[in-house]
Amino acid sequence: MNQFTNEQLNQLRSKVISEGVASVTTNFIESAQGAILRDVEGREYIDFGGGIAVMNVGHSHPKVVAAIKNQAEKFTHTCFMVNPYEPAVKLAQKLCRITPGDFPKRAVFLNCGAEAVENAVKIARYYTKRPAIIVFENAYHGRTLLTMTMTSKVKPYKFGFGPFAPEIYRIPFGDVAGADSLHDAFIKHVNPEAVAAVVAEPVQGEGGFIVPPAGYFQELAKICRDNGILFVSDEIQSGMGRTGKMFAIEHWGVEPDLIIVAKSLAAGMPLAAVVGKQEIMDAVHAWGLGGTYGGNPVACAAGLAVLEAFEEDNMLEKSVALGEKLQTRFAKWQKEFDIIGEIRGLGAMLGLEFVKGENKEPAADEARQVAAHCLEKGLLILVCGSYGNVVRILAPFVITDEQLEKGLSIMEEALKEIS
Ligand SMILES: Cc1ncc(COP(=O)(O)O)c(C=O)c1O
Repeated sequence: MNQFTNEQLNQLRSKVISEGVASVTTNFIESAQGAILRDVEGREYIDFGGGIAVMNVGHSHPKVVAAIKNQAEKFTHTCFMVNPYEPAVKLAQKLCRITPGDFPKRAVFLNCGAEAVENAVKIARYYTKRPAIIVFENAYHGRTLLTMTMTSKVKPYKFGFGPFAPEIYRIPFGDVAGADSLHDAFIKHVNPEAVAAVVAEPVQGEGGFIVPPAGYFQELAKICRDNGILFVSDEIQSGMGRTGKMFAIEHWGVEPDLIIVAKSLAAGMPLAAVVGKQEIMDAVHAWGLGGTYGGNPVACAAGLAVLEAFEEDNMLEKSVALGEKLQTRFAKWQKEFDIIGEIRGLGAMLGLEFVKGENKEPAADEARQVAAHCLEKGLLILVCGSYGNVVRILAPFVITDEQLEKGLSIMEEALKEIS
């Protein structure tokens, strides 16, 4: 056990960490394995949050740990823009192969999701020579100036942080009649000839695990194609097998011009990538893209180990199986508990919408209460949604049946408590 208690570390934290950075729990983690987190006082938690969609292959996956150790012993940094190295090109080769689209591709590595979204926008603007970007209601793309502008939710992400970046236009997400609101936007908001890209999460994450209706993305991509607009898929939360396919956009057979990956790409090492059509990615002038740490060798080695785990340890099959088990249990709860509205999401990216009253108003307090009850009983679970009323599951695919069952029993108990 650690020499400090949670209480002592929280006291220290309050003196040295900005109040602007909040945490879901007050438990300081000392170690983690698979789907289990262990805090400094030795208390264990089943992890249904995966560090917000980062630990798809599980905490401390042996292949990832070995790859990190091995690379760290060789060298930890040169800066790819100074001295390139093998792990980055090997990982880029794999990403170009596994991302949708049977056409030549290129990749660029960045440090985090927001930085990758920023770079996708830079590339799209450079290639099209157009300024505007279309995004969606309920979207989340990050916390930097541009990506916070692209993000939909005001509090906590945008409140007080303006003025925002120009040339970002927002439309409703997933309107049934074939992306009508995009056509509408061309009349009411922005000339299509000024639009560089439409940036969409195939399954909206922070916005509440929202899946658009059948045919939506095909229509959206067609409108983009017809107007010389790039279609960019932000797979930062929905990618790396989370929805049962490597990338969620594959569910609709759409091949994006650019695809953005981060989070579970390197199992917790800070790594993100933009992967896209060669002629678009190569259009940018030399030195136009990059950064000191982008594609760090240790992070790329971890990324390669993650892909190896997918190839050798049946991660996609595990994801599909997890999604099916969750769907079955959630469908049962939906019948039993009035508080549950829609079952949201796709595959193992699944959430429960909490609603109350005749008009099915968002029940954010109840969602929070369930999460708090779960935490008390040893289950970490996260809440999301524009109204804060969606309890979401992002558990590692390697979670054992026993751990999953225990976690779901705790959730069920919490649902009974608030019903
Ligand atoms: C869909 C999506 N895009 C972008 C981001 C931003 O990624 P990061 O926090 O690594 O900057 C997130 C993070 O939650 C996300 O879910």
